[in-house]
Amino acid sequence: MKYKIPFNRPSFAGKELKYIKQSVYSGKISGDGMFSKMCTDLLVKKLHTKAIYLTSSGTHALDMSAILLNLKPGDEVIVPSFTFTSTANAFVMFGARPKFAEIRSDTLNIDESKIEPLITSKTKAVYCMHYAGVGCEMDKLKEISKKYKLFLVEDAAQALNAKYKNRYLGTIGDIGIYSFHETKNYNCGEGGAIVINNNKFVKRAEIVREKGTDRTKFFKGEINKYTWKDIGSSYLLSDVLAAYLYAQLEHIEEIKRKRKYIFEYYFDNLREYEKKGYLRLPVIPKECETNYHIFYLLFDSNKDRDRMMNNLRKSGILAVFHYLPLHSSPMGKKFGYKKGDLPITESISGRLLRLPIYNDLKLREIEYIVKSIKRLL
Ligand SMILES: Cc1ncc(COP(=O)(O)O)c(C=O)c1O
Repeated sequence: MKYKIPFNRPSFAGKELKYIKQSVYSGKISGDGMFSKMCTDLLVKKLHTKAIYLTSSGTHALDMSAILLNLKPGDEVIVPSFTFTSTANAFVMFGARPKFAEIRSDTLNIDESKIEPLITSKTKAVYCMHYAGVGCEMDKLKEISKKYKLFLVEDAAQALNAKYKNRYLGTIGDIGIYSFHETKNYNCGEGGAIVINNNKFVKRAEIVREKGTDRTKFFKGEINKYTWKDIGSSYLLSDVLAAYLYAQLEHIEEIKRKRKYIFEYYFDNLREYEKKGYLRLPVIPKECETNYHIFYLLFDSNKDRDRMMNNLRKSGILAVFHYLPLHSSPMGKKFGYKKGDLPITESISGRLLRLPIYNDLKLREIEYIVKSIKRLL
């Protein structure tokens, strides 16, 4: 069914086609070409980080993280159940076991106070995920990781250009990842990036990303032939896609401002219904600066959520739920989990509704969405 207002629409920032043409005519359209370098330089400067590499997706950046941490059968990794499958698949693919943690009912991020009881002698890492572009409680997560000598990976797929205590999400843990999937604030269809904050992984990241070879060094002119050094795969982003991405990243702040406007319009216009107790709006702790990736409503019950979702759909607006919990999925059950194990995660998943939010959502469309919601409330 085609909706008058889709949930997401990839928006042009302006020069995408111009840059794609330039990339095509440059004679190098594979990875690490001219536009990849421009994207990387821009991100290095913006995020105050040293090592960031474009990847073919956020999922592949997560896969790389599991390789870099040497996660293997017998290892355990703490991860929220309220996340995308890729956060867990990354290490499950290499035989490590997920230990699902409960989320906080305010930010919907991993509950830092529920992590320590899950730690055993087998625990190797914590994979946190910044839901909706709002940061996890990073100070506490860092403290726990340090205390138990665990690696901390940030799934910041949704969180480019968002901050925790004035530091960019994705640059705080040992490794961070971003997604440039078409649903993200900054996108190129399919794409991602890995940020290496722990220097000890930098050299190996370059090798793992280049099919297990030292080709990156070769291209930099540091060696005169390259060879097989390690395991790895093909994780580079095509330069044609990097050209598209660069056109978006050039407008990184303008895109954020556009989303802020939409987010605040929803927030300000629906606040009275929160006060009346009909629903709950997103919570952004004072330590966090969001990138306005998702705007959601939390209803009191699954029935209320579904009623709103169905009615909005009848009005031509596609509003959607989010994350069927991983622990109670068919795959989660294989690890011994069952429905009822994580009550907050399960309850949130049944009550959450995401409203359309994309860079060029028009004011008249936002007004129509808010009017439709108000009518039903
Ligand atoms: C939290 C989270 N992790 C990982 C991913 C995977 O990113 P990609 O679609 O670029 O592979 C996504 C994207 O949908 C995501 O939202």
